[in-house]
Amino acid sequence: MRTYGVWRFVPGLARWLQRLEARERENHLLAAECQRLAQENFRLKGPLRQRQPPDVSPQSDEPPLPPELLRWLVAGTDDAAWFLESGRRAMATLLELLQRHGVPLTASGRWLDFGCGCGRVLRHLQHTPAQLYGCDANPLAIDWCADHLPFARFAVNALASPLDYDRDFFDVIYAFSVFTHLPQPLQQHWLEELHRVLKPGGVLLLSVHGDALVHQLSRAERADYRAGRLVVRLPALAGTNHCAAFHPPAWVRTVLAGRFEILDFQPEGATGNPPQDAWLIRKT
Ligand SMILES: C[S@@+](CC[C@H](N)C(=O)[O-])C[C@H]1O[C@@H](n2cnc3c(N)ncnc32)[C@H](O)[C@@H]1O
Repeated sequence: MRTYGVWRFVPGLARWLQRLEARERENHLLAAECQRLAQENFRLKGPLRQRQPPDVSPQSDEPPLPPELLRWLVAGTDDAAWFLESGRRAMATLLELLQRHGVPLTASGRWLDFGCGCGRVLRHLQHTPAQLYGCDANPLAIDWCADHLPFARFAVNALASPLDYDRDFFDVIYAFSVFTHLPQPLQQHWLEELHRVLKPGGVLLLSVHGDALVHQLSRAERADYRAGRLVVRLPALAGTNHCAAFHPPAWVRTVLAGRFEILDFQPEGATGNPPQDAWLIRKT
């Protein structure tokens, strides 16, 4: 991979070079994973990149680490230590908010990790009494979860579809860094659908890009954001990390979460997804 040498010191270029490097790393991982899958599944011949052992390992009673590519897709890095630590922090954010708002942890409670990816957060909930569910639009991630996280039930959903759960089914739903990658119509579709599958009184935790990331916006985007409008980059790549949505708090309150009661808003409070905001909302 290129490192772009002295160019990274040219004012204004550093951020673009960083993004370029991140894209190259992602392409590299995708290519390596495709090659591995091709060999495994179809017994094709060809050189296989040596897989690097991760620099940290989960505890012996924890699930194994997912492959680099799946870690990259959910965390924007394949760093194994960060994958484990950020998942723990996200789990702590969730449990702390639930406790603060008196949501009980009971064995009859059903919790859904919407857009669970490869279980970065869910893996840390295996000892909670609740019944755990995860769904995602990425079938590779869900296959990995179904094979390695036996304490939860998993399903694949389409980018825009009804979920395969009954009305009023879940007590708790959380979606870390999922609405951050959807354009407005899909966000509204999914809030409606999550509203349907939540029980009355059930809660939904969302993490979104808020004021802490305004500095990343262009002048025109910033003007939109400041006027309280959702800003979405690359909406055609909905559901991937290349599509990025920025949520003014006023827009979340009035448009996105309009049908819900706002229980909590913590700017930069999603500590496992820094520096995203955390919103806890309730179906009334
Ligand atoms: C940045 S990752 C975050 C994954 C996970 N929530 C976490 O915090 O580790 C975004 C995830 O949202 C999933 N996703 C995007 N659009 C979705 C949709 N319409 N339905 C379900 N999952 C979706 C992606 O496949 C990806 O796994």
